[in-house]
Amino acid sequence: MNSDLVTLARHSIALQKENPEASGDFTLLMASIQLGCKFVASNVRKAGLANLTGLAGCKNITGDDQKKLDLIADDVFVNSLKSSGKVSVLVSEEREEAIIIEGEQSGNYAVVFDPLDGSSNIDCGVSIGTIFGIYRSDRPSYSNKDVLRPGREMVAAGYALYGSSTQLVVSYGKGVHCYTLDPSLGEFILTQENIVIPERATIYSVNEGNSSLWDKQTCAFVLSRKSPLKGRKPYSLRYIGSMVADIHRTLLYGGVFLYPRDSKNPAGKLRLLYECFPMAFLIEAAGGRATDGKDNILDIIPTSIHQRSPICIGSRLDVSELATLYMEMD
Ligand code: AHG
Ligand code: MN
Ligand code: MN
Ligand code: MN
Repeated sequence: MNSDLVTLARHSIALQKENPEASGDFTLLMASIQLGCKFVASNVRKAGLANLTGLAGCKNITGDDQKKLDLIADDVFVNSLKSSGKVSVLVSEEREEAIIIEGEQSGNYAVVFDPLDGSSNIDCGVSIGTIFGIYRSDRPSYSNKDVLRPGREMVAAGYALYGSSTQLVVSYGKGVHCYTLDPSLGEFILTQENIVIPERATIYSVNEGNSSLWDKQTCAFVLSRKSPLKGRKPYSLRYIGSMVADIHRTLLYGGVFLYPRDSKNPAGKLRLLYECFPMAFLIEAAGGRATDGKDNILDIIPTSIHQRSPICIGSRLDVSELATLYMEMD
């Protein structure tokens, strides 16, 4: 029986000790994120019973049909983050404009988040998640400028996975750690420390339904996974359709996840600020790589809060082979 429970708060405080500017503010901010994840987890689990499945009847700024749980999750995270008193700017997938918090209730962090990722999978019970990224602004400008920064400037990022258990995977800049919710305690307990992604694995993850629209580099890359150079095993295709679930498998088992540009969507589908940046931050901290084909995802400077980016992310050797194809094939 484990009687030495390392909660997320205890673990993140211990890790922050190495960084002098750490204050209790970050811990309180993480507490508000944990609260949001616990609330969403409990509502995802009872969605079918509490008439929480299905559409809300409206679209968000990026054209997604919003599900009821998208909006509930969004409200909970906005309220929880606002009441932490540690945030000056909030960006949510579900809100066209950033939320600016000034005065008493403001703080030195800016949080970008996807309150519910993979929401097309809610009604069929497939794993979904929440994604977040955190910037620190010592002198906030109380504008989008506080978040229109390269992902490399984030101080932390993570995701919650509402699957067979509720897991929170977080990096505070160095190392990637997994915490599992103990529902009887209401606490996220450290279950995996310093996760390292395999440098190669024979799994590729992409929506092959778009293959007729891909550019030649993506076609060549995916073909080289299916019919590899002699002496190498063909890869298996695994695609869940929730970025959080696909990335969690990639982090633990290795391989490569792609949502490439195509002739219909020249910037791909996934949103840079609150999907690509946090996942790239985590995967790089675990020893992997994330590119849009030409640049490392984390070096891109966003110009708008909902802009999209193509992404290829995962095991360092696999992702580097796609980057090489973009360099060699013009
Ligand atoms: P969201 O539910 O937050 O809008 O994100 C959905 C995204 C992502 O979770 C997933 O990787 C991708 O959509 C799947 O897109 P396709 O259905 O086009 O493959
Ligand atoms: Mn959506
Ligand atoms: Mn998403
Ligand atoms: Mn979403």
